[in-house]
Amino acid sequence: MTITFIGHGYVGLVTACVFADLGNTVYVIGRDPKKLSRLKKGDPIIYEPGLKELLQKNLIAKRLIFTDLYKTSIPGSEIVFIAVGTPPKNNGEADLSSVFNVAQEIAKNLGQKFTVISCKSTVPVGTNRKILEIINKYKPAKTTVAPVSCPEFLREGTALQDTFHPDRVVIGSDDKKAVELLLELHKPINGKRLIVGLESAELIKYASNSILATKISFANLISFFCEKTGADVEEVLDGVGIDNRIGRIFLYPGVGYGGSCFPKDVKALAKIGEGLNIDVSLLDAVERINFLARQRFVEKIIADNVKDKNVAIWGLAFKPNTDDIRDAPSTYIIDELLNKGFKIKVYDPEAMDNMKKIFGERVVFCTSSYEAVKGTSALIVATEWNEFKQADLIKIKSLMKEPVVFDGRNIYDPVKMKKLGFRYFAVGRPLN
Ligand code: UGA
Repeated sequence: MTITFIGHGYVGLVTACVFADLGNTVYVIGRDPKKLSRLKKGDPIIYEPGLKELLQKNLIAKRLIFTDLYKTSIPGSEIVFIAVGTPPKNNGEADLSSVFNVAQEIAKNLGQKFTVISCKSTVPVGTNRKILEIINKYKPAKTTVAPVSCPEFLREGTALQDTFHPDRVVIGSDDKKAVELLLELHKPINGKRLIVGLESAELIKYASNSILATKISFANLISFFCEKTGADVEEVLDGVGIDNRIGRIFLYPGVGYGGSCFPKDVKALAKIGEGLNIDVSLLDAVERINFLARQRFVEKIIADNVKDKNVAIWGLAFKPNTDDIRDAPSTYIIDELLNKGFKIKVYDPEAMDNMKKIFGERVVFCTSSYEAVKGTSALIVATEWNEFKQADLIKIKSLMKEPVVFDGRNIYDPVKMKKLGFRYFAVGRPLN
């Protein structure tokens, strides 16, 4: 098949590479000449395990074409995917201006044949019908189009695995021919197929992210109970998660969820609900608890009177295996500690360059986790990268001025930490 992606952010680029790898000819349209030139040279711009190799392989095979011209790709494409950003406005609503601008451009460049327009961007219910209205207004008179909502469920850090082997492929459409084309495109990909209405598909995406965020906030809420009662949150959630109806997955407490999806989508769903006169206090509470998780963690550090206010932070990305720092808990922690006069050394395996753009010289960027802890009086773990889990704790203790660890992801065993002589503060676990 010949298909086009508009947008080369996480979703656009990863999905485009995967479909190219499956043998399709895939055009990717972008606006920024500098980014397009990097992509054409095989530089994916973002860090995602395996993406660079997949990009380069499919560029060489000429199955992946980056361009800023709609007219070279749209007329020959059977499916056009919209994968542009829908950032939150100040009031939490999703900003759909890019989606609608792109819809106009697609319409003006359509050829004569039937084309499926599939929105991969996360958009409020009803948006795909608005896209259709715009396309119908600007398209050539004889061309027919059908909208399909095909939401994306990939996670950063495991994006390729999630796209090649998703749990489900959701296809939302009222048009039989469009559904068939989408099924054909996804043929080599595993995962349960779910053919639903357009509006249902749009809502499935928000509902999925919101329930996952709810699980995390629930875990964090229970951690607050644990800290006040002496219970151990990991023991409690192990006990809860054994129940198959609940499951342990996504019940990991810590410094809260971040990234470009959960915070934005929970707020957007709440906004959609308000517009529909639905009581969204559950979603508001999910966001509030997420903020409290970060706040309480920082308060613990401040309350401990760290010697010389000299700390190291391990992990800047919002989660492991990505360089993405959008809404990362680490940015909140750094901001708050800098405001209180802390001196901070940081280390992250991938996210240092992105963080330098925000904090510049206000923190010290180190080349290794061990260098970061040297001479500090507390270590703060903000992201659970693998290399931190098996770090040489004896060496770390010898490098630090004071052996104190604030673990925002509960990656260490409190008993072992005590044995090694650390004062160890985890989330929702008794102090030692
Ligand atoms: C999330 C969803 O998991 C994907 O299915 C979805 O496609 C994507 O958003 C999106 O809408 O594009 P992502 O944000 O990449 O994916 O990462 P997650 O693995 O979901 O983690 C999100 C945040 O929750 C991270 O900050 C992570 O540290 C935190 N988290 C996750 C917890 O604090 N506890 C947990 O138990 C799980």
